Amino acid sequence: PRRIIIDTDPGQDDAVAMLLALASPEDLEILGVTVVAGNVPLSLTEKNARRICELASRPEILVYAGCARPMVRTRLVTAEHVHGKTGLDGPDLPEPSMALRQGHAVDFLVDTLMAAEDASITLCMLGPLTNLGMALVKEPGIVPKIREIVLMGGGWAEGGNITPAAEFNIYVDPHAAHNVFECGAPVTMMPLDVTHKAMSTRVRVERFRALGSPVGLAVAAMLDFSERFDEAKYGTDGGPLHDPCVIAWLLRPELFQGKRVAVEIETASERTLGMTVVDWWGVTGKPANALVINQIDSDGFYELLTERLARL
Ligand code: BDR
Ligand code: CA
Repeated sequence: PRRIIIDTDPGQDDAVAMLLALASPEDLEILGVTVVAGNVPLSLTEKNARRICELASRPEILVYAGCARPMVRTRLVTAEHVHGKTGLDGPDLPEPSMALRQGHAVDFLVDTLMAAEDASITLCMLGPLTNLGMALVKEPGIVPKIREIVLMGGGWAEGGNITPAAEFNIYVDPHAAHNVFECGAPVTMMPLDVTHKAMSTRVRVERFRALGSPVGLAVAAMLDFSERFDEAKYGTDGGPLHDPCVIAWLLRPELFQGKRVAVEIETASERTLGMTVVDWWGVTGKPANALVINQIDSDGFYELLTERLARL
């Protein structure tokens, strides 16, 4: 199996992504889960990450808390308007009893990568990129150890979802995102252009509910909650299921299509802070630094999700 670390700020869609990975041990070996502040503050996201491991009956998973605020911006922007006060509103999940591991997520990232073979670890980034941005500052020697960074973030033709120009994960910590896109490791980016094609329609949510298991019911309750915001805002049937696209890409890359292009992060302008400037047509002549995904077989994606979650 591919060796992965999941970095996350759960978040209902983060939770579904974690469950998809936890349901796929033959494909993915989870070395640890590093948690960051994002959708809600760190004290809540780290608890939510442990709740999800317990929901999947995997209390042995290593969960580390990381950065509580972005690298340079002093105020953490959160998204309770989408995810609710707890970050994981919807299902009624108990307080976690499994331990949060001692030590900082950035140190876990650095130590695990430095001890690994070259190009052996895949980083699945589901939230603001602060933990990895910091790890790159602390120990640049981690770069050759990374096999691939797969991240949910940014938007090209779709624009932004937190400002007209910026997607939430990049906007929260644009300086960390800049570090990640410039680091030289292979980057695959799942922007809003693809996640907005992965809608959790009523029919699809009912399939999760029909699993009848605690996981199926919890996922249906999470999506019932989080899609309320998107339905009201965009008038769609259901909301985009962003973060699971990262894990699905590792399991079934043939479900996706994209292009290798140059991506730069806006860190200076007030109006377009956190914008992912994607040179889709190669007008700058700059070398490609990311594979930007913009197409998905959404039926295949939901089939994969339903089939894998049924195992838990
Ligand atoms: C991203 O922001 C968060 O609200 C979601 O969990 C996802 O990672 C979408 O813009
Ligand atoms: Ca997220």
